Amino acid sequence: MAYYVTTPIYYVNATPHIGHAYTTIAADILARHYRQRGEETFFLTGVDEHASTVARVAAEQGLAPQEYADRILGAWQEVPRRINATNDFFIRTSDEGHKAFVQDFLQRIYDAGDIYEGVYAGWYCVRCEAFKTEAELVDGKCPIHETVPDWIEEQNWFFRLSAYQERLLALYDERPDFVLPAFRFNEARSFVAGGLQDFSISRAGQPWGVPIPWDPEQVAYVWADALVNYLSALSYARPGEDLRGTFWPVVRHLLGKDILRFHCVYWPALLLSAGYDVPRQLFVHGWLLLDERKISKSRGNVIDPLDLVDVYGADAVRFWSIRSVSFGQDGSVSVESLHERYERELANDLGNLVSRTTAMIDRFLDGELPARASVESQVRALVAGLGDDLARKFDVFDLTGALEAVWEVVRGLNRFVESQAPWQLAKDDARRDDLERTLYDLADGLRVAAVALASFVPETSARILDALGLDAAAIAWDEVAYGRLPARSGIVPAPPLFPRIDAPTAAA
Ligand code: MSP
Repeated sequence: MAYYVTTPIYYVNATPHIGHAYTTIAADILARHYRQRGEETFFLTGVDEHASTVARVAAEQGLAPQEYADRILGAWQEVPRRINATNDFFIRTSDEGHKAFVQDFLQRIYDAGDIYEGVYAGWYCVRCEAFKTEAELVDGKCPIHETVPDWIEEQNWFFRLSAYQERLLALYDERPDFVLPAFRFNEARSFVAGGLQDFSISRAGQPWGVPIPWDPEQVAYVWADALVNYLSALSYARPGEDLRGTFWPVVRHLLGKDILRFHCVYWPALLLSAGYDVPRQLFVHGWLLLDERKISKSRGNVIDPLDLVDVYGADAVRFWSIRSVSFGQDGSVSVESLHERYERELANDLGNLVSRTTAMIDRFLDGELPARASVESQVRALVAGLGDDLARKFDVFDLTGALEAVWEVVRGLNRFVESQAPWQLAKDDARRDDLERTLYDLADGLRVAAVALASFVPETSARILDALGLDAAAIAWDEVAYGRLPARSGIVPAPPLFPRIDAPTAAA
């Protein structure tokens, strides 16, 4: 089966913050996991360049919008690279392939009779790139960005979203897992049930964007351009190949809760109108909060993901972001919480266990570990059913639950080493058999944990497997099972996986 996962494409009006890295990390964990399961996988991320704020910021810097977008591109591409994201393509909405595709897509909607000309007047939040009703505003401000919207009145091209209410409701009723988590499904469905307003798919009076094919004086509304990226990328990411046959409509979209309506309502309607299948599934996650407020540029409370990666490494940032906030919910994060998890869970629970296990194999068995799987092993019981349990969790995007399930194994292995006390067994020649079994079980348990962690903390997982003399092929998903470790020789004490790092100072 094919698996296709996307992140939203990010606005380039500023440099990235940890909230953007968050969705990319989650998507990468999914992509790596399905690859481990042998699925044909495609992972897409990228940037949304045609926002009005981009034109605005470019003008402030005295640059043409394209020039500005070209200059900031590197900062956005660096995030996936530094967090070890394995995206198969990085889309820019200024790619020629994308722009041509958007024009074709809009023309199809026009030809389907779903476009008409009208006048729009209303409050427009430029950061949301969306009109807001009076009822949505709080004290006259956008509730997401806490800024006063602009009053806009324009002659535009409208999309007949209202005509899709019945089809969308039918879709929601047929597919109860179309949107996850369930409370987001309900939110999207009730929005549809509440009645749908047509929306403008073009903008007049601003040249930055994709020209409307039948009226080149106007450009595509940035959302009508951006959403199409999920489909357009498949048509040109691999020159000479059309990946749509394999990866559409099996796509899974990840998105933050702020852009639920665009993805769960507008996007399926646009697809239906243009004659495409709707996505397989959408997962809506919550916000990372700092001091109880959404991390965002407009609030100025940003954390630069690269600063964290510089100090703690990509794996620690990946681990912490998924572990500290239940995926799907909002949650508070801080540099202190990263430091604390780094020390307590990564360095102590996992790192020490790897150091101790390899050091004991070296010291007590001269680095020679015989294959000693046994039927009555406690580690066998500890990891029984783990592979299936994790796969089920991944299938419903329960990344935090999956990581916790692996951590239960890590904690179980720590209890096991304490209760078996191999250092005592080593003192008694008569207990050599118990010693070998115990060290085998520890090493094999660590192997299972490393395979199960490969999508979350790929560098750490590879280092653990390397310390056990295993190569990259060892991460295939069916290796998440007890007793697969063959006899090993030449095991040496592994260097610390997570070296000590000074605690962050107040200014950090
Ligand atoms: N360009 C649009 C999306 C178009 S997709 C066809 C956009 N861009 S954005 O730069 O504002 O990024 C939005 C996404 O970034 C959110 O949906 C979410 O995935 C991620 N996040 C940005 N800030 C975040 C938090 N504070 N917490 C969690 N995720 C956040 O909207």
